[in-house]
Amino acid sequence: MTLSRLIYISAKPPLPSGEIFEIQQQAMRNNARDELTGVLLFNRTCFLQCLEGERVTVTRTFTVIAADDRHHRVELLSMADTDRRAYPDWSMGLLDVDSPAIRVVLDEVVPGGLLPANLSGENSRLLLDRLRGVHLTRRTAVLPSLRPAAMPDLTAPNA
Ligand SMILES: Cc1cc2nc3c(=O)[nH]c(=O)nc-3n(C[C@H](O)[C@H](O)[C@H](O)COP(=O)(O)O)c2cc1C
Repeated sequence: MTLSRLIYISAKPPLPSGEIFEIQQQAMRNNARDELTGVLLFNRTCFLQCLEGERVTVTRTFTVIAADDRHHRVELLSMADTDRRAYPDWSMGLLDVDSPAIRVVLDEVVPGGLLPANLSGENSRLLLDRLRGVHLTRRTAVLPSLRPAAMPDLTAPNA
């Protein structure tokens, strides 16, 4: 078995309220079945996702994700073999890049902000490594147990 980690960035259109939680639920369900783990970062305009697991499964799932019309201009940043998972406990963690603890790390690693032009394979790998060190709490991560109705609408264009 070859364990691989894939990172891509894509453009996020304004999505209906709650859609991001639908994506996460779908991802968690499929990824738990397929033994994939990772995180999905988002801000108002971009997604950055790290997907890790068996190389063939990562590749298959990425081709499905890349064809999803809930995002576009998918750019592959990195695909590499790895010894161990960075996010073994997250079938698909959802991280709001605008939350303060995550913003500190982002500003340090990608000072220009989460935009395709500012991301490379190298700094995206570093960003995901550094985010592992952030203690992820309900204040920093959008956890599945929080219902969309209880959350500010992070997907609204003016949120
Ligand atoms: C930004 C984004 C991230 C996604 N991440 C995953 C993922 O990690 N795993 C997954 O199975 N589907 C993910 N999806 C959903 C897939 O594109 C696709 O809709 C889903 O896998 C289809 O699942 P189904 O065959 O069970 O309906 C993601 C979609 C988007 C837009």
